[in-house]
Amino acid sequence: MKAVLMTIVFMLPIALVALDTRRDALRGSVRENLGRDPLRRGIPLDEERRPLPMQRVENTDLRRKRAHPEQPPTIPHAIDSYQLDKNSNACLHCHSRANAEDFQAPMISVTHFLSRDGQVLANIAPRRYFCTQCHVVQTDAKPLVKNQFRDVDELIGGEKAEARD
Ligand code: HEC
Ligand code: HEC
Repeated sequence: MKAVLMTIVFMLPIALVALDTRRDALRGSVRENLGRDPLRRGIPLDEERRPLPMQRVENTDLRRKRAHPEQPPTIPHAIDSYQLDKNSNACLHCHSRANAEDFQAPMISVTHFLSRDGQVLANIAPRRYFCTQCHVVQTDAKPLVKNQFRDVDELIGGEKAEARD
C-alpha cells in the first residue's frame, strides 16, 4: 500500500507537466492551422470576435439562372415576415395554383403535386410543403471560400473544343 502511494506521489507532478506540454502543443497546432480555415477568418479557436454585420438579402425580384435544370430556383425576393409552419404557409399565398395569377408569381412546379409514389395530388404534396428546405434567398455576402463550380454548358463547350483540337 505504501509503495503504491509513493508511486502516485512521485508520478503526479510528471503527469501534470506532460499534460501541460501536450496542451501547449495543441494550442500551437491550432494556431498554425488557422490560416487554412477561412470560415473563422484567422481567429483562434479559443477567442471570440465581434461577428460581422448581417448580410443583406437580395430583393431584386429578378429570377436567377439555375446552375442545372433540376436546381430548386433561388428566391429572388425577401421572405422576412412570411410565416411558414404547420399551420400556415405564406409562400402558397402567392405561389399556389389558385393564387399565382393574382400575384403574378410563378406557380409551384407540377413536380410539387406528386406524392412519393408518383401519384398526382390535387394540392401540394406534404413533402414539398416546407419550401425553404429547398428554396433559399441569396445575400450580397462575398463567398467565404473560392468556388470552382463550372456550368454544364461550359463543360460541354470545353469538351467539344478539346475534341476539335
Ligand atoms: C406576396 C407574394 C409572394 C410571396 C408571399 C412569396 N413569393 Fe415567391 N415570388 C413571388 C413573385 C411575384 C415572384 C416572381 C419574381 C419576383 O417578382 O420576385 C416570386 C419568385 C419566387 C421564386 C423564383 C422562381 C423562379 O423560377 O426563379 C421562388 C423560388 C420563390 N418565389 C419562393 C418563395 C418562397 C419559398 C416563399 C415563402 C417563404 C415565397 N416565394 C413567398 C411572390 C411571392
Ligand atoms: C424537396 C425540395 C422542394 C421543396 C420542399 C419545394 N420545392 Fe419548389 N422546386 C424544387 C425543385 C427541385 C424545383 C425545380 C424543378 C422542378 O420544377 O421540380 C422547384 C421549382 C419551383 C418553382 C419554379 C416553378 C417553375 O415552373 O419555374 C417555384 C415557384 C417553386 N418551386 C416554389 C416552391 C414553393 C412555394 C414551395 C413550398 C410550398 C416549394 N417550392 C417547395 C424543389 C422543392
